[in-house]
Amino acid sequence: MQVFTSSGPKETKEIGRNLVRKFGEDQLFCLFGPLAAGKTTLVKGIARELRIAEKIVSPSYVLLREYEGACRLFHLDLFRIQSSSEFLEAGLEEYLIRKEGVVAIEWAGRIEEILPEERVDVELELTDESQRRIEVASQLD
Ligand SMILES: Nc1ncnc2c1ncn2[C@@H]1O[C@H](COP(=O)(O)OP(=O)(O)OP(=O)(O)O)[C@@H](O)[C@H]1O
Ligand SMILES: [Mg+2]
Repeated sequence: MQVFTSSGPKETKEIGRNLVRKFGEDQLFCLFGPLAAGKTTLVKGIARELRIAEKIVSPSYVLLREYEGACRLFHLDLFRIQSSSEFLEAGLEEYLIRKEGVVAIEWAGRIEEILPEERVDVELELTDESQRRIEVASQLD
């Protein structure tokens, strides 16, 4: 497990970039943390490292957005999902199985009981207005 402190969005993006460098491209990143914790900001860093030019917009209404860069990025936001069964009914299970590309899931806690073991957990916590504690844990550590 690793713990980082971020003092602003730029630093959170940099942490996102480093996650791709460290864990590689075919990875599932599960993001936890309350509103405005910086989950989307971190995904923007992941996208930059993947050389995705398109602007990252949080997929909170559509649940999923797909981008193309050095590899594909599947960005999911489960804020509006109430349960694992709703997730499965929406036909999203395939994103939990190793994909060719990076999968990043905001509000991954919504489907905690069906998350695969092989994943990277990123827990973001607000410690101050512009400070975030970011804990990264993976069975690969
Ligand atoms: N250190 C920091 N890291 C990331 N964001 C920060 C930081 N300090 C302040 N912020 C601000 O906090 C907000 C984070 O927004 P962001 O959309 O990334 O959060 P989120 O976790 O995705 O929220 P949501 O649950 O609504 O999707 C932004 O307005 C950003 O400017
Ligand atoms: Mg978000």
